[in-house]
Amino acid sequence: MPGGGVLYPQMFFPLLVLFWSQWRTRGLIPCVEVIPGSIYRCMELNLSGIPPGIPNTTENLDLSFNLLKNLTFNYFSLVPALRFLDLTRCGIQRIEDNAFMGLYNLSVLILTANPIQFLGPRAFHDLMSLQKLIAVETNISRLDSLPIGHLTALQELNLSNNHINSLRLPEYFSQLIALRFMSFQSNKISAISAGDLDGFQSRNLTLVLSKNIIKYIELNSFSGVYFQELSLRGCFETSAHMQTSLQNLSGLHANRLVLGAYRNADRLEDFSKDHLDGLCHMCLQEIALVQISSLYRTDSLSDCLNNIHSVRLVNTDIEQVSPFPENSSIHHLEINNCRLRGVPAESLSSLKELRVLRITKSGRFLTRFAEDFNGPPNLEILDLSENSLVVSFAWSSLMEGLPNLKHLNLSFNSKITFPPECSGVSKLEYLDLRHTNLGNTGALPSFLCLGNLVYLDISHTRIHIVTECSFCGLDNLRVLKMAGNTFEGHELAGNFKNLTKLHILDISSCQVKHVTPVALAHLRDLRELNISHNNLLSLDAEFFMHLRALTTLDLHSNQLATLTEQVLENLPTSLKYLDLSWNLFDCSCVHLVFLRWTKKQKDLLQHVRYMVCHSPVDLKDTHLINFDLSYCQVSKTTVAVSVTTFLVLVLFVVLVYKYYFYLYYMVVLLSRDQVSTEKENIYDAFVIYSSEDQEWVTRELEETLEVGVPRFRLCLYYRDFVPGVSIITNIIKEGFQSSRKVIAVVSPHFLESRWCNFELEVAQSWQLLDSKASLVLVVLEGVDNAVVRQKLGLFRYLRRNTYLVWRDRELNRHMFLRQLKSALLEGKTWTEEELKLMLTN
Ligand SMILES: *[C@@H]1O[C@H](CO)[C@@H](O)[C@H](O)[C@H]1NC(C)=O
Ligand SMILES: *[C@@H]1O[C@H](CO)[C@@H](O)[C@H](O)[C@H]1NC(C)=O
Ligand SMILES: *[C@@H]1O[C@H](CO)[C@@H](O)[C@H](O)[C@H]1NC(C)=O
Ligand SMILES: *[C@@H]1O[C@H](CO)[C@@H](O)[C@H](O)[C@H]1NC(C)=O
Ligand SMILES: *[C@@H]1O[C@H](CO)[C@@H](O)[C@H](O)[C@H]1NC(C)=O
Ligand SMILES: *[C@@H]1O[C@H](CO)[C@@H](O)[C@H](O)[C@H]1NC(C)=O
Ligand SMILES: *[C@@H]1O[C@H](CO)[C@@H](O)[C@H](O)[C@H]1NC(C)=O
Ligand SMILES: *[C@@H]1O[C@H](CO)[C@@H](O)[C@H](O)[C@H]1NC(C)=O
Ligand SMILES: *[C@@H]1O[C@H](CO)[C@@H](O)[C@H](O)[C@H]1NC(C)=O
Ligand SMILES: *[C@@H]1O[C@H](CO)[C@@H](O)[C@H](O)[C@H]1NC(C)=O
Ligand SMILES: *[C@@H]1O[C@H](CO)[C@@H](O)[C@H](O)[C@H]1NC(C)=O
Ligand SMILES: *[C@@H]1O[C@H](CO)[C@@H](O)[C@H](O)[C@H]1NC(C)=O
Repeated sequence: MPGGGVLYPQMFFPLLVLFWSQWRTRGLIPCVEVIPGSIYRCMELNLSGIPPGIPNTTENLDLSFNLLKNLTFNYFSLVPALRFLDLTRCGIQRIEDNAFMGLYNLSVLILTANPIQFLGPRAFHDLMSLQKLIAVETNISRLDSLPIGHLTALQELNLSNNHINSLRLPEYFSQLIALRFMSFQSNKISAISAGDLDGFQSRNLTLVLSKNIIKYIELNSFSGVYFQELSLRGCFETSAHMQTSLQNLSGLHANRLVLGAYRNADRLEDFSKDHLDGLCHMCLQEIALVQISSLYRTDSLSDCLNNIHSVRLVNTDIEQVSPFPENSSIHHLEINNCRLRGVPAESLSSLKELRVLRITKSGRFLTRFAEDFNGPPNLEILDLSENSLVVSFAWSSLMEGLPNLKHLNLSFNSKITFPPECSGVSKLEYLDLRHTNLGNTGALPSFLCLGNLVYLDISHTRIHIVTECSFCGLDNLRVLKMAGNTFEGHELAGNFKNLTKLHILDISSCQVKHVTPVALAHLRDLRELNISHNNLLSLDAEFFMHLRALTTLDLHSNQLATLTEQVLENLPTSLKYLDLSWNLFDCSCVHLVFLRWTKKQKDLLQHVRYMVCHSPVDLKDTHLINFDLSYCQVSKTTVAVSVTTFLVLVLFVVLVYKYYFYLYYMVVLLSRDQVSTEKENIYDAFVIYSSEDQEWVTRELEETLEVGVPRFRLCLYYRDFVPGVSIITNIIKEGFQSSRKVIAVVSPHFLESRWCNFELEVAQSWQLLDSKASLVLVVLEGVDNAVVRQKLGLFRYLRRNTYLVWRDRELNRHMFLRQLKSALLEGKTWTEEELKLMLTN
């Protein structure tokens, strides 16, 4: 058959439309959507224009590493709301007039690494909000052809790595009143002349001229110009040349001057005292000397440095510090990444004005600190971080030698030990010891003399905290950072008792398993608590009891299974930041309160996407925010249903057990119709009686009725029931179904017997259903009348029933027999044989 397995073209059509629309939406925006409608990253997509489909609300667009080539008129008309535009390495050769038309809000334009050959005179028209123009490596060779004169909002202009050979600023710079930063790094400026920066108004410019080989600087070129910073690194071929150039810069005013070389350009050798003499004729706040080799001693430095407030020596070869002159006005001295082997406290003690001393990043060189030192008397900040100090400090000599010390940074050193005792009152306010081994014992030094300390960092100092009074004496401490240490028994107990003013406590990565309720009880002012990266299994109900000022709590990376209802109730209202990510949450429905709570706390909880279920197994790695609460409700109903089913079953079993007879009887009744038609009445009466009355039955019924005339045939259980068949079956089948009438011998035993009562009840209901059978009630002597009335109820009054009372007297017995016989005769049909027998009698 031709049409068998063939798909008709019209069947394809809807599929095709679907596919097309899917492909279209994906194909339209090939970019990464960082924030829909606002931030798009279109890097390296071989685009040759603005990709259509980018919404016109886009504010931040990264088009770097594409192939735009020509920025023509109104090129960015699709994205008029841009604030940030990155066009790095887009092969742009031409920027025509009004290329950025309408981008009134553009604030940052990055044009780095484009081989620009043509810039229209109105190329940057409309960019009235532009604050930052990065035109690094853009083949720009002349400032006067750069059409930026109208960009009055411009603050930062980066023209590094171009071919500019003159610093003479065109007139239009006088309009760039907001300009703060200008870089001509790595250009071709070889000469600076007086008047080059004329017309420039700003007093706060940072000018980077580094990596231009400057051969000539005219005398007083920069006099009268005020710089925030002037950077002249790698500008002079020799030290001698630097000397004459600096002399010609006399009159310079700068907040900071940066001089020196670059690591790979090994210039400025044979550096000597005189080379910086020009500094004496400048007005500087700070000088940074970077990467100057052959500076072995500080006395090889010019005396002119002593006029300067702040001196930084970075990456130099300094090995020794010789005493500075008494009248030095150095306020701030920084020796960074040099080759000092010891802290030159005594050489610096002449620096009466010194307030800040930083000797940092000396790597393996700096190991010593004289124990009895006399440092600069007014020193307030001593930063010796990132060295290799191995020192045994004595609090007392520290206080004597540096009586005004407020700030001591000994972080990232090898090993520093403190004596166990600490007396007197130190002025120290900041003490940073992080990542420094604090002695062999691993015990915390005494802080009893540090009553003014506000900030203490002992993170990762390999301390094991044993005593309750570890932090005693730190009465004013606001910040305690001690991540990466350990507590005795992995438990927080009374350790923080005396830190009543603490605002920030960091005990992350401390292997803490348990936080006792007293541990945090005294920290009434605590704002930030970081217990992340510990082994907490749960939080005590009292955890938050006293933390009424807490705003930030970080509990991430613990082993919490849940937060209990009490904990949640006690949560401080001030809390704004709670990180519970990376815990081992148990998403069983017993924790429903917590699970429900997390869903409502989108503002409070941090990193919610890392809050995942750890158990039960079938929910592992489910995100808590995605957790389906109805999962728990469903299982609740399941539980309810199964419980009810179980109860109903139990009830059923109990009922079946109790009313087994009746049920069986009902079954028989239901199949009554077929049975009754099959069976004939073999008996005249089925006698129900208690076995206790067997004698009476034999004497009064069996022997009188079955032998006399007319002869009746009785069904008696002991004689007529079929053996091997259940009693009930016999009662029903042999008794009721095969008999016309039922004789109930009611005696006290009868009334007590369950069987007899059952048989009586069956008889009564049988009678109701089947008009045929009727009941002959024989009440024996000694039976309580009230009981009979209650038991037999209405049945004794039914017309078809016969109610006989038997008395053991001759006359009564005769009457009884007659009444009984006539009752049995009612409805009897005689067989021919019987009739014959009767006639013969
Ligand atoms: C980039 O697009 C140009 C045409 O615009 C094409 O010639 C070139 O092969 C494409 N390059 C890649 C890597 O797709
Ligand atoms: C952006 O495009 C929508 C229609 O897509 C238009 O209604 C709206 O005016 C446009 N906004 C701007 C600023 O062009
Ligand atoms: C760029 O524009 C110039 C002049 O308008 C034209 O000659 C050149 O072909 C254009 N280049 C591209 C890649 O469109
Ligand atoms: C530019 O910014 C202002 C205020 O920030 C805003 O009202 C205006 O709509 C923006 N212009 C465009 C073209 O998006
Ligand atoms: C740089 O620009 C000039 C014109 O100013 C041009 O002749 C030259 O080819 C450009 N260089 C590069 C690498 O594009
Ligand atoms: C701008 O110039 C500075 C100093 O000249 C340089 O270090 C920096 O990398 C440049 N900035 C950008 C964004 O290119
Ligand atoms: C000067 O510029 C620097 C950045 O270069 C800035 O931090 C400072 O606030 C500015 N000062 C004034 C008075 O404009
Ligand atoms: C310093 O200025 C003087 C006088 O203008 C000049 O002769 C000399 O060459 C300049 N030195 C340098 C290194 O530019
Ligand atoms: C310091 O004293 C020396 C003489 O001992 C003097 O030459 C120098 O100018 C003085 N420096 C300052 C900054 O007062
Ligand atoms: C101590 O020095 C380290 C390393 O230089 C630094 O990160 C830390 O902020 C300093 N500490 C203080 C309190 O300033
Ligand atoms: C700790 O604080 C209690 C009062 O809270 C004070 O009595 C006790 O002297 C303090 N101990 C130390 C060593 O500061
Ligand atoms: C808590 O400490 C951990 C590890 O030191 C750090 O990653 C985290 O940012 C800190 N949390 C806060 C809220 O500062």
